[in-house]
Amino acid sequence: MASDLEKLIDHAQRVDDHAIGFLPRQAIVEYIDAKRVESIDCNGDRVGFALWRISPFRECKIVQCWVRSDARLIENGRRLLQAVEGNAAKRRASCLRCWVADDLPSNLFWQSLGFELVGWRIGRNKTGRRHNLYRRPIQIPQATTTSRAHARP
Ligand SMILES: CC(C)(COP(=O)(O)OP(=O)(O)OC[C@H]1O[C@@H](n2cnc3c(N)ncnc32)[C@H](O)[C@@H]1OP(=O)(O)O)[C@@H](O)C(=O)NCCC(=O)NCCS
Repeated sequence: MASDLEKLIDHAQRVDDHAIGFLPRQAIVEYIDAKRVESIDCNGDRVGFALWRISPFRECKIVQCWVRSDARLIENGRRLLQAVEGNAAKRRASCLRCWVADDLPSNLFWQSLGFELVGWRIGRNKTGRRHNLYRRPIQIPQATTTSRAHARP
């Protein structure tokens, strides 16, 4: 039976597919099982999620990021990204990155959070939309083995 998180992601893909795209159920289950999903609660309701993965080049790719329409513009998206960044830092990723279709208002979200536009490409589907690539270095300091070895007792 589908979990609440799976149902929320399924709902998001139905109402905002033009923004977050589509992942098959099996892929969603794999993200959840691998704990590569953050979610956010607001007034006791789960209102958003972000799916992410770390590339072989140690970049954290945000695959989907979504907040329910009635919970937007009150910092839930920012909190989600903070949670992703915390996990990415633990896994020693160097940056966060995300592809966003050029016609979406969410370009302003990434820019407001300090992401830099570092590239673009024309989408592979029939719409021919341009997709922008945003990137931001990880801003959380990483505890390294070296710094622990040098720490005073
Ligand atoms: C993009 C999205 C996740 C943002 O979530 P949110 O909870 O509204 O974002 P926040 O409230 O944390 O906003 C953080 C900053 O981004 C800005 N921002 C967010 N959405 C914005 C919009 N549509 N237009 C202009 N600025 C926006 C906020 O003003 C805020 O900036 P500030 O701190 O300078 O005031 C949400 O709008 C969403 O789910 N959209 C549909 C799906 C989507 O487009 N996902 C992204 C592609 S993967």
